[in-house]
Amino acid sequence: MFQFFRRLIYLFLFIYFPARSFTQSTYSQIDPFSYNIIKKTECRKGAVVSAHPLASAVGADILKKGGNAFDAAIATQFALAVVYPAAGNIGGGGFMVARTAKGKNIAIDFREKAPEKASRNMYLDSNGNAQTNLSQNGHLAAGVPGTVAGIFEELKYARLPIRKLIQPAIDLAEKGFALTASEARSLNASQNEFKKYNTVFPVFVRSTPWKAGDTLVQKDLAKTLILIRDSGSKGFYEGETAQLITDEMKRGNGIISLDDLKNYTAKQREAVAFKYKTDFTIVTMPLPASGGVLLPQMMRMIEDQPLKTYGFESVREVHLMVEVERLAYADRAKFLGDKDYFKVPAKFLWSYPYVMQRMRLYDPEKAGNSKDIKGGDTAPESEETTHFSVYDKDGNAVAITTTLNGGYGCKTVVAGAGFFLNNEMDDFSVKPGVPNMYGAVGGEANAIAPGKRMLSSMTPTIVLKNEKPFLVFGTPGGTTITTSVFQTLVDILELNMSPEDAVNKPKFHHQWLPDLIYVEKDFPQDIRLGLEKMGYQISQRDAIGRTELIQIDSTGKITAIGDKRGDDTAVGY
Ligand code: GLY
Repeated sequence: MFQFFRRLIYLFLFIYFPARSFTQSTYSQIDPFSYNIIKKTECRKGAVVSAHPLASAVGADILKKGGNAFDAAIATQFALAVVYPAAGNIGGGGFMVARTAKGKNIAIDFREKAPEKASRNMYLDSNGNAQTNLSQNGHLAAGVPGTVAGIFEELKYARLPIRKLIQPAIDLAEKGFALTASEARSLNASQNEFKKYNTVFPVFVRSTPWKAGDTLVQKDLAKTLILIRDSGSKGFYEGETAQLITDEMKRGNGIISLDDLKNYTAKQREAVAFKYKTDFTIVTMPLPASGGVLLPQMMRMIEDQPLKTYGFESVREVHLMVEVERLAYADRAKFLGDKDYFKVPAKFLWSYPYVMQRMRLYDPEKAGNSKDIKGGDTAPESEETTHFSVYDKDGNAVAITTTLNGGYGCKTVVAGAGFFLNNEMDDFSVKPGVPNMYGAVGGEANAIAPGKRMLSSMTPTIVLKNEKPFLVFGTPGGTTITTSVFQTLVDILELNMSPEDAVNKPKFHHQWLPDLIYVEKDFPQDIRLGLEKMGYQISQRDAIGRTELIQIDSTGKITAIGDKRGDDTAVGY
């Protein structure tokens, strides 16, 4: 009875005082029915920042109970799969970049891969036209999920047993949690698609609209998480869960097979690490994450430019950065793909001589034109995502970006298993020159092949200052991911901006094609006019990314910032 009234009071408080944003320096007990959005946390031991308050709280709780940053990351990742169904996932994939307290860089690739039955022209109709509805929605859009394999690769660096790290997620799925207002809106906006792309209606479908404070219970998902807890990655890639996935495929004409699942492996890659000026080393994810080429390219293109003199979001600064982005994304379309399948001259593309040669195409006085800028030809041959960052008291830093691709992935939930599948096949180039859902084009390098991993924009990044972790961050946002990471680096490393401003100030983006500068609605109007005068076309769009950033200063003070653009929350102690 007491419990019932307690819940009733919490529900009242939640509806009438919806999750408020504030700064805090400690955290309190996790209550899935009453929690707050915390945008800034200052602390000295450890912190977690993610897209959801409950996931951040779960991760921070693990840190406080003696887990290291890898433990906290795993617990956060499982919790996101429950409380943030639009992007947190076990049916998708992603990347982890980490720096251990002992100074080792780690990069884990758990990107989805094309099923064995996939083929180059699988999304073309009989006239050769691309059917992007099939690469974006429903069963055929799904790549073989990598998240669970990735988590078990991360576990090699953790201290605590998996059962402790997954239990908070099981509890959240089994007993439920209160939806935030933005989650309720997001679920309501996708109701028609959930009905269209599911053979069995999942728990997310409701006859009356979802509202803030409603409890979301996910019994099927809890059952799947219990199988993973008890049988490890086999609890997902084999046995009951694998059978439910393939049954779902059969009902909806998908092609993921039992063998595809059984043979999936996460891969340890060599992290990309490059010096920036004298003090900084930037550590990021290599291919198939495109940031591992584009970020060093773009940072080297601006390294000797007077950005500080230009100033934040001045016409000259935006012009320079946009032209740099244009050059990098032209190379992306031409050269980048899974390097296990296509020869990519990755290191050449960010070598100083190549970068300097590309910068000869930059005219400081004039807007460039994507018709005249192609991917370099002197090289030898070739939303919805979520990011979270963790830092622990020993100095381990973990940056993980994972994705279902679009919001709720392909919109199909595996019946009986309770999780959304990704629509990552759309990140391949389904036909040369045909834009994917982010407007990105590609060619041979990123063509579909069985077992191949589709090119990604995800760019989890760690910056070392004098060889010690200084920034741990990343963002979702499709093709805007790499440019958002680039802007955050410029803002902090070049313009000495506070971490809060670097995360929250308006962002802009250029990706070669379409030949437009995308800006957020609070981008300064006078700068917009100045850029238009230079010959740019500007297009206002929704929020660009949701950056989750931790900064550690030279005294050891930790500042964790959750992006203002969502429910993102920073928790530390
Ligand atoms: N699906 C978004 C990305 O990987 O870039």
